[in-house]
Amino acid sequence: MTIYDYDNDFSHYETDQETQKSLGQVWTPFHIIEQMMDKAGTVEDKNSVWYDETKTNLDPTMGAGNIVIAMLYRRIVQCGQDPVVALSNVYGVELDSKTLNYAKERIKRFMAHFTDKDLTEIINHNFVCSDIFKWDIENWKPKKSEVEEQTDVWRSLGVEV
Ligand SMILES: C[S@@+](CC[C@H](N)C(=O)[O-])C[C@H]1O[C@@H](n2cnc3c(N)ncnc32)[C@H](O)[C@@H]1O
Repeated sequence: MTIYDYDNDFSHYETDQETQKSLGQVWTPFHIIEQMMDKAGTVEDKNSVWYDETKTNLDPTMGAGNIVIAMLYRRIVQCGQDPVVALSNVYGVELDSKTLNYAKERIKRFMAHFTDKDLTEIINHNFVCSDIFKWDIENWKPKKSEVEEQTDVWRSLGVEV
């Protein structure tokens, strides 16, 4: 079995030409992603990060989900991680809501090969529509605006605002 038995969408999804151009929507082919993942650790090396269920992965501009799907494939199929744990530790951000929704459906279809659990909550939490520069990755929520940050400072000093 290869990744294409689980997901065959690596270059199928296309938005309109204007969106493609303005957001730079081109998708990374699987063989390139494989090389990228191998830089972090190979499947052959049983001590590599891909066997560690506690590690997290993020694609900050996830597009149609090519890299997310490839990372899930590596963790679950190639390295034998528990599918729900693996999904819980993979994250993505995408600016274009249509593209994000496509990716989320694709992730759902991919995960259905491994579990019949309802994964909607994890998928909605881990894959979000935002400008990456406005997303607080550490706390996994939208970044505060400057005004909100300043308000917090005043409040911490006991000033009512
Ligand atoms: C070159 S594609 C790469 C998609 C995917 N990572 C891949 O390798 O197949 C870049 C994606 O980032 C999205 N994007 C562009 N600017 C962004 C931003 N500021 N924040 C989040 N996503 C953004 C685009 O809509 C597009 O889907």
